[in-house]
Amino acid sequence: MKEKLTHPVFKIIGECADEMGIPAYVIGGWVRDLILHRPCKDIDIVAIGSGIELAEMVAKRLGNQYHVNLYKNFGTAQIVYEDYDIEFVGARKESYRSESRKPIVENGTLEDDQNRRDFTINALAISLNEKTYGELLDPFYGYKDMEDQIIRTPLAPDVTYSDDPLRMMRAIRFATQLDYVIEEESLKSITRNKERITIISKERIADELNKIILAKKPSIGFKLLFDTGLLHIIFPQMVLLQGVEIINGKGHKDNFYHTLEVLDNICKTTDDLWLRWAAILHDIAKPQTKRFEKEHGWTFHGHEDKGSRMVPKIFAELKLPLNEKMKYVQKLVLLHLRPIVLAKSEVTDSAIRRLLFEAGDDIDDLMKLCEADITSKNEYKVQKYLKNFELVREKLKEVEEKDNIRNWQPPVTGEDIMKTFNIPASREVGIIKNAIREAILDGVIPNEYQKAYEFMVEMGKELGLKN
Ligand code: CTP
Repeated sequence: MKEKLTHPVFKIIGECADEMGIPAYVIGGWVRDLILHRPCKDIDIVAIGSGIELAEMVAKRLGNQYHVNLYKNFGTAQIVYEDYDIEFVGARKESYRSESRKPIVENGTLEDDQNRRDFTINALAISLNEKTYGELLDPFYGYKDMEDQIIRTPLAPDVTYSDDPLRMMRAIRFATQLDYVIEEESLKSITRNKERITIISKERIADELNKIILAKKPSIGFKLLFDTGLLHIIFPQMVLLQGVEIINGKGHKDNFYHTLEVLDNICKTTDDLWLRWAAILHDIAKPQTKRFEKEHGWTFHGHEDKGSRMVPKIFAELKLPLNEKMKYVQKLVLLHLRPIVLAKSEVTDSAIRRLLFEAGDDIDDLMKLCEADITSKNEYKVQKYLKNFELVREKLKEVEEKDNIRNWQPPVTGEDIMKTFNIPASREVGIIKNAIREAILDGVIPNEYQKAYEFMVEMGKELGLKN
């Protein structure tokens, strides 16, 4: 590994450790990512001795502008160097991150430290002392597990997972990010210990869930979460999507697997976490709105509206942000059928204007969601829908260029109306304002001040107002 440890900071850490007469290693995620050629900015250093003293010496050697941030409770020290975050810790025995308030930390050997780590692929260490510089210490054959693409715990899985139950989520997250297989015993252990996830804070669970969602193919993770039973605990609304009901020989599609297909599809066109969340939630209210109608078979009337209204509770439960990101997801869930309806029927200018008005700047994301939503196995149908969407897109562009309706506000304001008729804020003002907006969206009058003004005066007359 010597030739790979090219950054001068590793030499400096090694020199300082030699002067202190202690072994020091770079360990964990950084080593894993070095071998996998993944970029990594977090460097973890383990000292067989005081990690804090080593950090202080390294900071001095790096220059005056560097200082050490101490986290005494955890016995760790941090230096921010260039865009690296370097953390120093003394090797420890006992559990890695105990859930108790005061973790007992005992000094240990490198092996003790490696034992306490989550996965073999995260337990590799590289020596930094001069004599052994670059030597790989891999007691659990993590290197081989990377070649074989396996997630495995260093100790018996029940021990590793009970040490920190978040690791169950981490196993699934790494399996998803790296497209690895979780070793069988580990998978059984996760299924057996799933209830222990409830002692982990929802924020930490959400972090892992979001990392799964940001992977190239998130369905890998969601299937594992489902199969182990973790999803039932952390996100039960999604589990309800699973299953097919059959009445009179007619079944509907399995909305869980459909949702996963939509999610994987949208990942090909966006890296945006919230657009990916919109894909996850677009059909979330299908179980609650499901009906069997003799003439039509299965229907899910209003699932877009109900689904949109379910979003705040789901976000709150998952500890996702209750801000404009949530509103964006709500909006996309609410509008997700609109372009499909347009693509199926004749595309009128006024329908396009309405969609543009309601979607605003999110129109492109909405179109991405709708295209991802086409999961038919019938290639002919897929092509037909995609073609229709192409038409909708063209129309959207045309109408937008002509009418400029995206993020649009009607040219005549409430203030204008009050001034013209010399009336206070009242029901009439609302009526006139709405009528102007509707007239423009329907194409009755053009989107221009003068025409809107004339329309307002007419409306006022009808309502018995004087200007
Ligand atoms: N670790 C662990 N158990 C945890 C969290 C972390 O054993 N619950 C160990 C692993 O050895 C891991 C290292 O601490 O490699 C650093 O953890 P962290 O920075 O959280 O994650 P990374 O593995 O680096 O992965 P990522 O940066 O993708 O989160």
